[in-house]
Amino acid sequence: MPVPVRSGGRVSGMDAGDVVRSAKWMASLRAVGSAQGLRTVRSAWRRHRVDAVGLPRQGTERARVPGPAEGAEPGPGGGVVRFARSSLRVRVTVGGAVFLGWDGAGPEPSYALAGAAPEADERAVLEPDTDGGWRVVAERALVVVSRHGMVEVRTPGGALLRRDLPPRWWEPAARSGGRGGRWVQRSQVPADARFFGLGGRSAGPRLRDGWYRLWNTDPGGAFEPGDDPLYITMPVLLTVADAGTHLVFHDTTWDGRVALWEGEEGAGSGHDRPGRCEVRMDGGPLRSWVLVGSPARVLHGWAGLTGGAAVPPAWALGYQHARWGFGSEREVRRVVAGYRERGLPLSAVHLDIDHFRGHRSFTVDRRRFPDLPGLAADLRGQGVRLVSIVDPAVKEEPGMAVYDGGVEADAFVRDVRGRVVRGEVWPGPCVFPDFTDPEVRRWWGGLYAERLVQGFSGVWHDMNEPVSFAAFGDPTLPRSARHSLEGRGGDHREAHNVYGLTMARAGYEGLRELRPDERPFLFSRSGWAGMQRYGGTWSGDVATGWPGLRASLALVLGLGLCGVPYSGPDVGGFTGFPSPELFLRWFQLGAYLPLFRTHAAITAGRREPWEFGPEVLEHAGAALRERTRLLPYFVTLAHLAQRTGAPYVRPVWWRSPEDRALRDCEDAFLLGDALLVAPVLEAGADRRAVRLPRGLWYDTATGRAHEGPGQVLLDAPLSRVPVLARAGAVVPVAGADGAVELEVWPPAPGRTGGGVLVPDAGDGWKRPDAVRFVTRWRDGVVAVEREGAAEVGFRVRLRG
Ligand code: GLC
Repeated sequence: MPVPVRSGGRVSGMDAGDVVRSAKWMASLRAVGSAQGLRTVRSAWRRHRVDAVGLPRQGTERARVPGPAEGAEPGPGGGVVRFARSSLRVRVTVGGAVFLGWDGAGPEPSYALAGAAPEADERAVLEPDTDGGWRVVAERALVVVSRHGMVEVRTPGGALLRRDLPPRWWEPAARSGGRGGRWVQRSQVPADARFFGLGGRSAGPRLRDGWYRLWNTDPGGAFEPGDDPLYITMPVLLTVADAGTHLVFHDTTWDGRVALWEGEEGAGSGHDRPGRCEVRMDGGPLRSWVLVGSPARVLHGWAGLTGGAAVPPAWALGYQHARWGFGSEREVRRVVAGYRERGLPLSAVHLDIDHFRGHRSFTVDRRRFPDLPGLAADLRGQGVRLVSIVDPAVKEEPGMAVYDGGVEADAFVRDVRGRVVRGEVWPGPCVFPDFTDPEVRRWWGGLYAERLVQGFSGVWHDMNEPVSFAAFGDPTLPRSARHSLEGRGGDHREAHNVYGLTMARAGYEGLRELRPDERPFLFSRSGWAGMQRYGGTWSGDVATGWPGLRASLALVLGLGLCGVPYSGPDVGGFTGFPSPELFLRWFQLGAYLPLFRTHAAITAGRREPWEFGPEVLEHAGAALRERTRLLPYFVTLAHLAQRTGAPYVRPVWWRSPEDRALRDCEDAFLLGDALLVAPVLEAGADRRAVRLPRGLWYDTATGRAHEGPGQVLLDAPLSRVPVLARAGAVVPVAGADGAVELEVWPPAPGRTGGGVLVPDAGDGWKRPDAVRFVTRWRDGVVAVEREGAAEVGFRVRLRG
């Protein structure tokens, strides 16, 4: 390890996390036999020098607080409260979302919002409160502003959900009254509250006490539970308490940190210690959105603000196999044949950087893959699609079409002196498109034509935090690098966290234009609030091991609560050699997650289910067949996610947030409304405890009914993981002939139930109507009815 550089008493942008990451990077570069080691040292130095010149000097700062209130002006949906040294805009919008903007900040521009901010709710008005403050009474929330700038959000009934203390800014002293400084916002939440979200976190989904960084980061090598931050961070925090659930979104893309401290109840003594949250940002507007209601309502509101999730084509809800290092077309054919010969359904194969020529995106190594379109067509004939990795960094190589095109389009990120910023990624010395520039997005989107000609059906965006390998310091672009930011102009401190999001937008819009009749299939390692509009994501490089298995579930759950419903882990883990048992348990979990994909590093062991012996093959085959049977349900959940914001995979407290024991349950999840999946996350287990939400639940393997709330012990032999069905549920599944049929679980005696089917309308843009069913007991038998129709219209299979 080179010794880090000291500048002005500060190690140049390095913290302990950077040191560990750098070590991991060096190790992984050695692992692929790369000669890049030395160049990563040079690259890190270059980044350091660029920032030494480009970053504004940190002079003295002056602190500012809002000061006492001086007056207020009513406005649409609320109004503006003026303080001696700031102002606060409160605006309740149609749909109930509350916007709070300090220092004149409005909701726009924003990378998170799907379009224009929603209209103000004219019924909400600012009125004087007791104690010289103001309040806005709205349908779903009560907002109270004190005369010193404390803001409370309460339920309409008055129960406290959050209390934001007056914020504090630090601004360069030279610019008095200046904007754009650092700020901190401290908040309190009820003592019983639990925190979730903040993007994709490796520990959780319940976020424990500690600091969480808001800076998209490739941890290098592979990550374990507790490694923080990871590839997708976002200032989106969901808080669940007895008083209610709320989501707060601090709409700024800058680097920051969030500290969380759960509260403690004083056991009736009246001395509760509230939960606390502290958001510290390096810059950007101090503005937030608060959404209040049940978890379902909150997520619905969030999708309303940031956009519905892209619905993947149905084939992307099937099982997919990826590999870094297939190495040749022959090997791809061999693996696909392996699945076919064993009767294992396979939906797609993903080609990694080793199919590129020298790791350059939008090229093909014709020695190893002489006829990609031919391969794609052959596989397509067998029902298998090809998906391509796409890395954003472009090899700096005059004469190479993509590079030349980028130079001509002036697409690459520059430093303050106007020189193109160079970094180091898989192909060697690279430059980086500025996706925050609409023209660059258009140019980049056009490049996907080449992928379509090669026969690919979808894309997998990687390395877009963005990564530039560095022997020390932060493995990304210089913080002073310039970006367009939609023409407003700014630097990497502001653009970094939306690099992946804007790349996803470029890819999505490009594919949409190039192939207008098909919905794009895109998933991206990095992203930010709103990324679901363009596609999904995956776990990134999760370390092989039981802790990694657990982390991979935490990520999917946490991302779902931030509005990103389509994701899944590298089944089997990215690194090393999973034991047959671990591989199988991972596979069984993956079978119930939206993205079901095996993947591994070039140095890792094999991941084909038959490589782990006949027993694993048999049980993995059963999991695969079950996934295939559940496809109509997954398609339904994909559409519902888009329309309602409810993720496919939900925490067990989704419908019972008042059940405190469920808030702490991290080893099971709801798949839609109907199923509760309890994966095995421990070695050697053949039984496991399952915590049930209220209601009656059927063990789908035995048909036995269990009454919740409470905990039951269920068998979990190697052959399967416990899956329970909610009494009364209607689950659309594929029958033996492939036709959709309804699996119906009897309602509890005297109760009714129901379910929804959104039929697959192909890979285009048709919006199929949802079909709703009701189940009830009639004359001692279970009856199924279809809303608005005399006939059910589907085969019904009664279970239980
Ligand atoms: C990154 C990705 C991983 C991929 C590898 C090579 O580590 O996260 O999925 O296999 O790069 O492209």
